[in-house]
Amino acid sequence: MSMTFSIIKPDATKRNLTGAINKMIEDNNLIIVAQKRIKLTKEKAEGFYSIHKDKPFFKELIHYMISGPIIVQVLKGDNAVENYRKIMGATNPENADNGTIRKEFAINIQENSVHGSDSEENARIEIDYFFEKNEIIS
Ligand code: CMP
Repeated sequence: MSMTFSIIKPDATKRNLTGAINKMIEDNNLIIVAQKRIKLTKEKAEGFYSIHKDKPFFKELIHYMISGPIIVQVLKGDNAVENYRKIMGATNPENADNGTIRKEFAINIQENSVHGSDSEENARIEIDYFFEKNEIIS
């Protein structure tokens, strides 16, 4: 069993899709071992996405990520990072497979409903960015 970090993004919380997305997560054998609903500050969002700071879409991405509440989560299961990336589908919903979260719910490449860590190392960094050890109950 391993862990990954997930965000249910503002486009999804605004449409009241938290439960529907959590059902897809749980139906695919991932356990939600930590979860909280928060509103990102500009500074916290910029820190989280600092790897993208030179990308042309960075400013718009930050504006979007602070536009409403988000749900931050820790997911646990077999091959959690890889498994959750399959469940999410491609970044651009136009390229996402049927049955994935982004195919079902994402609006476009930016408002793509969910984030998931892309490696075990980043999962650890991202989990630590939002959660204290004692908030993760597995
Ligand atoms: P995420 O997996 O959270 O990682 C970076 C985010 O930037 C991505 O999901 C999208 O929300 C956004 N993003 C990635 N590529 C683009 C793009 N070409 N245009 C706008 N937003 C993007």
